[in-house]
Amino acid sequence: MDPRVIKADAAMPKLGLSEEEADNLIAFLDWTSKVDTNDWPPKPVLAVAAAGKGGGEGQMLYQKYDCAACHQVRGLGGTAGPDLTNVGTRRPDIDWHIRHLKDPSSVVSGSAMPAFPNLTDDELKALGEYLITLK
Ligand code: HEC
Repeated sequence: MDPRVIKADAAMPKLGLSEEEADNLIAFLDWTSKVDTNDWPPKPVLAVAAAGKGGGEGQMLYQKYDCAACHQVRGLGGTAGPDLTNVGTRRPDIDWHIRHLKDPSSVVSGSAMPAFPNLTDDELKALGEYLITLK
């Protein structure tokens, strides 16, 4: 009913739902979460397909931190953030990616992407190296 009550910088807007509408929506989401899809799509297949080939450690981190929840690579993933299929062409500078992952709003003003301040320097480098290979 008011995303910012839970998360002060939530990007999700207040939808103006009544309490009854919110209850109905929760019941619906609960129901869809229990629909038996016979384990389709199989998770590892999805993750590997989404990450492309040969990304190494950076690709594993992309999966570990669930970047695909908001980003697509080659048609697989969420759509809350930009499609990263060709992000390496658009943004070839690894230092930009490292700064962006640590603190998105330091390079994109008003960014709605969450910061990943707990990544180690090695993880930031591996993830950045992976991102610039996406072309
Ligand atoms: C909750 C959703 C969300 C998650 C999770 C998320 N992002 Fe983002 N991301 C965004 C949004 C929104 C933007 C656009 C604003 C910006 O550029 O900061 C963005 C932008 C980006 C960009 C810049 C793309 C461009 O074309 O400028 C990159 C690269 C990126 N994200 C990588 C990642 C990586 C890697 C992860 C996982 C460690 C990740 N994102 C996790 C929402 C998300």
